[in-house]
Amino acid sequence: MEVIENLEDNLEKIKKEIDKDNLVIFPTETVYGIGANALRSSSVNKIFEVKTRALNNPLIVHLKDKSEIKKYAYVSNEIEQRLIDAFMPGPFTIVLKKKDIIPNCVTANLDTVGIRIPINPIANRFLEYVKVPIAAPSANISSRPSGTKVSDIKDEFEGKVNYIIDGGESKIGLESTVVKVIDNIPTILRPGFITKEDIEEVIGVCNVSSHVLSEIKETEKVESPGMLYKHYAPKTKCLLVYSDDINKLKKIIKDNLVDKTIILGSDKLNDINCYKYVNYGNSLEEIAHNIFSKLRECDKLNGDLIIIEGVKKEGLGLAIMNRLIRTSNFNYKEL
Ligand code: TXA
Ligand code: MG
Repeated sequence: MEVIENLEDNLEKIKKEIDKDNLVIFPTETVYGIGANALRSSSVNKIFEVKTRALNNPLIVHLKDKSEIKKYAYVSNEIEQRLIDAFMPGPFTIVLKKKDIIPNCVTANLDTVGIRIPINPIANRFLEYVKVPIAAPSANISSRPSGTKVSDIKDEFEGKVNYIIDGGESKIGLESTVVKVIDNIPTILRPGFITKEDIEEVIGVCNVSSHVLSEIKETEKVESPGMLYKHYAPKTKCLLVYSDDINKLKKIIKDNLVDKTIILGSDKLNDINCYKYVNYGNSLEEIAHNIFSKLRECDKLNGDLIIIEGVKKEGLGLAIMNRLIRTSNFNYKEL
């Protein structure tokens, strides 16, 4: 895999790769994406193959600017338009009724399509130059933590993808907020950097899908197929713990220590005696930024258990907990 450090000098090479129906990994402000020409099934199918992604999990289509949206989807009501005006470009994906030009494999046969316009200048330059919409999931093998750093991604896709455009560490570190307007109410299908509170400020109301923090039963109707799968997980077993009382938090951790326990958390847990302690930062922004690469780091320490400190499920904390609950495969204790 070639790491492209200067996109300007390599634009033609990258465009040719996309035109050959191959995949290119590119940076965005949320996480890295593994992209293909969204208008060609033969390209898009390679994403599913390389990621070993379930065929019924739809992909997000990335566009260079807002004027492109109507080529690929219908903006059917005023709420959708106001969300687009307020949050795009940015870490926000809107699920809209799709136009026929988008192949069914992109949307897993749904009649809707997720549309995102990144704000990262490297992503924008790439999208502008290739002149096609780019279908892209996060750059990680399915079920593993999302790729936020070139070195992590290179390990995973070496020999499978020819080019990765280097944009440094992903600024935000968690994937975009996915929103669908249902019965005129914006509904968060996957929380992200744009929070429920941010959307309420603009629209007045915002619902959160009940699947954001819970396991989905096989018989349930799901609006967000991505929530069905084991996700964001290291190979080592994980336990997620939370309490807003530090003494209770330490008690849960001590009660669950095993031989080689790795603790992943903030400064306040650095005095617990365990096999290894890994700091993930102290503010919600720092935790979001670090979480996926720190989970990978913990996995390399060959422990028996990773105990992860949870956060309050508010604001950006909701997105962090949505990921960590799945990281730990719903192995969650709260006091
Ligand atoms: O920040 C991001 O969104 C990153 C970067 C690369 O843009 N992309 C990303 O893609 O996270 P992926 O494939 O890992 O996650 C896409 C999520 C899944 O949960 C999927 O189910 C949901 O978006 N999704 C996509 N299209 C949908 C649709 N038509 N209806 C409902 N959910 C959809
Ligand atoms: Mg993903």
